Amino acid sequence: MDAKLQKFIEGMPKIELHLHIEGTMEPEMLMQLAQRNGIELPYKDIEELKAAYKRGSAYENLQEFLDLYYQGMNVLCTEEDFYDLTKAYLKQVASENVTHTEIFFDPQGHTMDRGKDKDGNPYPTVSFETAINGITRALDEAKTEGLEVQVDGRTEKRKVTSKLIMSFLRHMSEEDGFKVLEQAKPHMDKIDGFGLDSSEWGREPALFERLYETLRKDYPEKKLLAHAGEEGPAAYVEQALDVLKIDRIDHGNHVLDDEQLTSRVASQGQGMTVCPLSNLKLSHKVKGARFGHDEEVVMTDLGQHRIKDMLAKNLKASVHSDDPAFFDGYMNANYIQLARAQDLKQEDIVQLAQNAIDTSFLSPAEKAEKTTELADYVTRFNAAQRFVNPEAGQVRKFG
Ligand code: HPA
Ligand code: ZN
Repeated sequence: MDAKLQKFIEGMPKIELHLHIEGTMEPEMLMQLAQRNGIELPYKDIEELKAAYKRGSAYENLQEFLDLYYQGMNVLCTEEDFYDLTKAYLKQVASENVTHTEIFFDPQGHTMDRGKDKDGNPYPTVSFETAINGITRALDEAKTEGLEVQVDGRTEKRKVTSKLIMSFLRHMSEEDGFKVLEQAKPHMDKIDGFGLDSSEWGREPALFERLYETLRKDYPEKKLLAHAGEEGPAAYVEQALDVLKIDRIDHGNHVLDDEQLTSRVASQGQGMTVCPLSNLKLSHKVKGARFGHDEEVVMTDLGQHRIKDMLAKNLKASVHSDDPAFFDGYMNANYIQLARAQDLKQEDIVQLAQNAIDTSFLSPAEKAEKTTELADYVTRFNAAQRFVNPEAGQVRKFG
């Protein structure tokens, strides 16, 4: 990929729509929080922990990653821990020119019985309130005061706006979902939507029909989402649309396996939050004529990702990082590595960024503002590139 496109991506104003805050737990922070809270970890040092994170290789499947992800949550004990985790993520993405982010948190991972350490001591559980207050304190600061980030050796303050989506764990029962919803009731002013995540196979969306019906009835102003078609089939996406009546599909890669569903999702303009590095590292399965096979095969490099098919079929796909600490990259890395592997052009990148704006939960006025900001960036970047054309005798640098 040429250096110009990389620079374009890095400087582009971006929106993140698929991010699990607990998935931003870098190994260093996990160690630090474990120490701060006196928690025994089953790793003798940071190297062993990094090996568990499989840096540079892949997990066998979604479940292998999830086991590690839930274990990582055990070090989150105080409001300060949730605040620090959220603030570190916001600083990272602010430095990458992310201007708005819609993040998930998994309250059941914190309030449920977290099991025992190797000495048989139970890991401490935390209240719903502790988790949400720590997260929202950091989100609110990023919106109002902004975050200090280092840009070209200078310190700059950047604001990041956000929405908070409370997710239900689909490996748990619908009854458990209702219980955590009860705990969420005093905090509804901080919650913008509800999602469904965790293990997908064998846990079809319809298992949560009553829960989603209640959410629609009691919170009609809040948005509904569900992870679907990540490793589950196209039929699960269809169920999430028809039974749960979701506003946006998380992942949705397997929509492409069903032509009728593909046309439907495209014509409805349903958002699909695609996470390329997550797909790669979770040994995502792809199939299709473009890759010369009809059977599903494990994707071994991003060249096999079906993002181009998604764009060609007018699906409103966009690019996000999912669990960046566990999948080796935040927003820029996802865009850049995908662009490199797929030979994407500037217009493809802009389309992906525009799709994120269009399918975000921002208001129509805010979407219009983001659209203008993106278009202005493209114009300014391309004009500046003409300046650095040596034939034009110019040396001015963009940025
Ligand atoms: N898939 C499903 N559930 C999750 C994920 C994911 O990638 N990350 C955190 N919870
Ligand atoms: Zn996810």
